[in-house]
This record gives sequence, C-alpha cells and structure tokens, in this order.
Amino acid sequence: MDHFLYKNGQLMAEDVAIADIAAAVGTPFYVYSAATLTRHYRLFSEALDPLPHTVCFAIKSLSNLAVLKLLGDLGAGMDVVSGGEYMRAKAAGVPGERIVFSGVGKTRDEMRLALTGGVRQFNVESEPELLALSEVATALGAVAPITLRVNPDVDAKTHEKIATGKKENKFGIPISKARAVYAQAASLPGLQVVGIDVHIGSQLTDLAPFEAAFVKIAELTEQLRADGHTISRLDLGGGLGIPYTRSNEAPPLPLDYGALVKRTLGHLGCEIEIEPGRLISGNSGLLVSEVIYVKEGEDRTFLIVDAAMNDLVRPSMYGAHHDIVPVIEAAAGAPPQDYDVVGPVCETGDTFAKARALPPIGAGELLAFRSAGAYGAVMASEYNTRPLVPEVLVQGDHFAVIRARPTFEDILKRESIPAWL
Ligand code: LLP
Repeated sequence: MDHFLYKNGQLMAEDVAIADIAAAVGTPFYVYSAATLTRHYRLFSEALDPLPHTVCFAIKSLSNLAVLKLLGDLGAGMDVVSGGEYMRAKAAGVPGERIVFSGVGKTRDEMRLALTGGVRQFNVESEPELLALSEVATALGAVAPITLRVNPDVDAKTHEKIATGKKENKFGIPISKARAVYAQAASLPGLQVVGIDVHIGSQLTDLAPFEAAFVKIAELTEQLRADGHTISRLDLGGGLGIPYTRSNEAPPLPLDYGALVKRTLGHLGCEIEIEPGRLISGNSGLLVSEVIYVKEGEDRTFLIVDAAMNDLVRPSMYGAHHDIVPVIEAAAGAPPQDYDVVGPVCETGDTFAKARALPPIGAGELLAFRSAGAYGAVMASEYNTRPLVPEVLVQGDHFAVIRARPTFEDILKRESIPAWL
C-alpha cells in the first residue's frame, strides 16, 4: 500500500498534487511519501513484536538524509555498507549503537571511522577481514562487536544479480566453515562475538528460501553456543520483495515474514535484527518525468521522456519492470495504446518499457514511474552530463526539496584542468 492515489483526476503524493511539485521543481524528480515510509517501517517493527528487535533500514536502497532522519526518529537502526553511508546515518542523528556495518570489502579506514564514532556491530564476511578488524580495534584500544555473515547455500530464487546466499556468490563465510571461523574470532584480540548474520538476496517473493536459511541459522546458534560462544543477536538481513505491478501476485507481507522469524528462531532468546531496504522505500517513491516528444517509428510509437537510464537504471540493468502512470488521470474509457517509453540517452538500453499499454499520451504530459523509491535515486549517475535529479519529500499537505538539482556550474566545478594542459 502507498499514498500515491488519484484525487479529482490528479495523481497525488499524500495531499499534494504531483503536478504542483513538477511546476515548482521541474522534471524529472523523485518524490517520496513520509506516510508510506513510516507505515512500512512500522509494519516490520510490529511484525516482530514481542521479540526484542531492531529494524535496521538498509541505507543503500534510499540514502537521503531527510529519509534517514524520518526513520531514525521512529526508532529505526541503520544498515550501512560504506564509510559514506556511515557518515550519512550519523549526520541524520542516528546513534552509533543503532548502526550495523555490513559489506564484503570494508577498508581499515572504514573500520576506524565506525569504531571511533560508535557502532552496534560489524557483520564480518571473511577471515582476512576478521584479522584486519582485530588489528584495527586493538590499535585503537577498542573492542569491536561482531557477527559473522554466514553463507547458508540457499537459492533465493531471485534475479541472479541480486542473489547472495549461494556458495558461488562472493558473500559471507560458508556455513560449513562457520564453527572454525567463530573459534578463530574468539581467539583474536579486540573482537567480541555477539551473534550471527545472514542475508540471502533481494526481491524475494517467496518465504521458502528465508525459511531454509533461518532453520540453518537456528541449528548453527545451538552449535555455536555449545562451543562456548555468546550468540545474543541474529541479524537476518533484508530481502523481502515488493509488488512491482499491481496485477501480479502479491509477495508475502512483513506480518508473514515476522511469523516465520518467530516460528523458526523465536525460541532462541536472541535479539532479532533485520535489514530491510526495498520493502520500506520501494513503493514510497515515484520518479516523475515529462514527455518531450511523441515519435512515430515505422512499427511503434516512442514516448521520449526527460528521465533516462542514468536517473533510474533498474530497467536497463536488470530488465526490471516499473509501472508507468499518467499524472493527470486518463479520461474514463480512453482506449489504451502501446508505447515504447524511452529516455534521451544515446543507447538503445535507455528503454524503460516496450509495448506498454497506456492511455493516449501527448508531448508535455507528466508520467510517474512507480515503485522507484528503492535503488532509484541512489543508483543514479550523471552519465551524458545529466544533473542528478532532485528528491522531494511529501508529508501531508506540504513538501520540501530534500536534494537540489545541481546546476551545470556545480557539476563542472568539481573538475579541474591541470596547469600543464
Ligand atoms: N542487507 C544486505 C547485506 C544487503 O546486501 C542488502 C541488499 C540489504 C540488506 C537490503 O535488501 P532489500 O531489503 O532492499 O532487498 N540494486 C538492486 C538491489 C541490490 C540489493 C543489494 N543488497 C535492485 O535495484 O534491485
């Protein structure tokens, strides 16, 4: 459920007409709904009640400071994967004890940053990383709380580029080696084992792979405890999928996911941490774009819009589907037409949709790409020297620009021409 609905023929973000934002900000832009973000965070948190838990928002899905502040004020923790994301969480006012540091390639600088600023735990993914963290923590006179991310060798049944829980993927420590690596962790100075971490992939639309992983984690918890380790936290990662089309079958809800967590892991007395990104942010955001031209091809009609693959890369990168809707509602009974919706970038891959049935659309009309809140703005680039598009946050009947569109001067002044040229 989201808060982007038509009212009197106008697509709204909560109580604000999208067309009014477009008039004020220009297109293209991302718009997020505070009510939807809040609702999705709460659904997860309530689904895990009464287990002790922390919902750590995966910042990588949507990292704007205003969004982090909104979620942080609701009590959310944050899952970060870089020094930059760590700085964002801190800048949004999230205390270190609510920040978990994930990622397969943490650098020593990133470790120092988080140890100095405060961190809930590092989710360590390899033996070399364990050694590096031990050295860095010892040198600082600090103790780093850690989990080991185990790779349970479970098929997440999702897009191959975002599946992470199979043994051929680069992530985590093979579950068969986990006891040996935990023993090594316990023997190293500057580290304190606090739990286990697992994340098997993203956009999972079935609970079965989660169940297979959680059952393995429950067994491992008992084994590690028998080996003398303190396992008081289980970080279950993120990955619950969202509906990208309104017609397809709905993926399981946070409530179903919470019930599964309680059934498979609830008896262990651990604090549960989860790292959802997409489910919180995905359907909380739209990308809004204007049609520049309607171009008649030989056998098809192109809608050339002012957003492109650099603004929303998911269709060209993963073949992802995003529903596209007109901002001014089509007249009832308007016969749909098939369009190829494309951006202005000079690549055929700059295609958002092929043969998409839409009501008749003319140049100058506004279109909204739905489900674009997650992995939209954060994956944008300035390819073709197209400025990063602004981000707007709506709450009730007001909105604010939460990231401004850079000017061409802003872009050019980051570069310099050496004196010897
Ligand atoms: N935790 C870890 C360790 C992760 O690697 C990820 C996502 C998450 C949590 C959050 O997963 P989520 O709840 O959002 O599924 N760019 C791709 C998605 C990449 C996901 C990477 N890791 C896309 O646009 O679909």
